[in-house]
Amino acid sequence: MLRYLTGGESHGRSLTAILEGIPAGLNLSSKDVDQELRRRQRGYGRGQRMKIEKDKAQFLSGVRLEKTLGTPITLMIENLDWQNWQDVMASENKGADSQNIPLLTYPRPGHADLAGAIKYDFDDLRNVLERASARETAARVAVGAICKKFLAQFEIRIYSRVIQIGKIKDITQWQPVEARYELIENSPLRCLDKAKEKEMIALIDLAKKEGDSLGGVFEVAVTNLPIGLGSYIQWDLKLDARLAYAIMSIQAIVGVEIGSGFTAAEEFGSRVQDEIFYDQSGSKFYRKTNNAGGIEGGMSNGEPIILKAAMKPISSLARALSSVDMVSKKAVKAMKQRADICVVAAASIIGEAVVAFELARAMREKFGGDSLREVKRNYSSYLDYVRKR
Ligand SMILES: Cc1cc2nc3c(=O)[nH]c(=O)nc-3n(C[C@H](O)[C@H](O)[C@H](O)COP(=O)(O)O)c2cc1C
Repeated sequence: MLRYLTGGESHGRSLTAILEGIPAGLNLSSKDVDQELRRRQRGYGRGQRMKIEKDKAQFLSGVRLEKTLGTPITLMIENLDWQNWQDVMASENKGADSQNIPLLTYPRPGHADLAGAIKYDFDDLRNVLERASARETAARVAVGAICKKFLAQFEIRIYSRVIQIGKIKDITQWQPVEARYELIENSPLRCLDKAKEKEMIALIDLAKKEGDSLGGVFEVAVTNLPIGLGSYIQWDLKLDARLAYAIMSIQAIVGVEIGSGFTAAEEFGSRVQDEIFYDQSGSKFYRKTNNAGGIEGGMSNGEPIILKAAMKPISSLARALSSVDMVSKKAVKAMKQRADICVVAAASIIGEAVVAFELARAMREKFGGDSLREVKRNYSSYLDYVRKR
């Protein structure tokens, strides 16, 4: 019902995405998307590329006079860096000039280079790395921005923050999220604990000095979700599985934890399950804890969704690692590309975006409708029903 595809190479002319299934009648301006694209470009530890790109989205279809039409929304983000790569990335073969473009043959550990070149039978690793690059996530953030706009119609909000860089951890609780979010949005690493953030920044500076890189952990929280999104009836409908898939699909993400996750595995059951209570005055079921991270049996249970994602350190290092020339098979140092040092802050924004898509998809499945007004009618009738249970 809701689906999307992205296209585009890192140094190609542009990134594109087609998002289908957003109902008609949603107010949508390119500014809504640009604001999210800007958030993705920030964060202490990013490299030179983000100084070149000033990402902006243009709608090519699906939006008229700042309202969605219910038709596929096509959007485009131009790569400003393309100016510097026109010959290398040209779609036309310009004869001798094209033949003289040097081949990249030193695969980088931790990248798609080696497996991609063998799988697709390429001599030039550029054919792999251009698409495997996380530049693609700008298109996903754009799609997520539209999904967020849709979710906001139902007061559903998505937040994120960085809780770990290397071994330095911010262990602060941030509930209620809304009250403290400005602090996170205005901080260089999207971190709540300022003392820890300073340590994290110092660690990133050290990594940079040593020609190294860093990973970390970010957290995503979603508030005000209705009970019953996703389903227990089939494996591929389970909301926890779908969110984990979405997050794992982000470049360099190596682990996902829902709720208390790996800590829950160490505890007795009596300390992990979130006991059920009923609020007579508010006529609603509630929990005093949220170890489940808002999902039970593959469905949202009405509590905030909380998930964490672990990101490995950036693969391309200034201090290049050992590799092998694909042609001569001799030992070489992996090629160096202009690289970020640490991008956990940017990854948290991408995390918000892919979560937004997955939740918007689950909302579309549950509440149907062709126009936003129809979705809202269906939604409010469901909420009336839930209140009576
Ligand atoms: C926002 C973002 C920026 C990234 N920037 C770089 C980079 O500058 N250099 C690099 O080697 N990897 C970078 N990565 C990670 C690679 O894209 C990723 O490790 C690689 O494509 C291999 O995919 P995998 O780690 O999922 O196996 C970045 C990832 C994200 C999410």
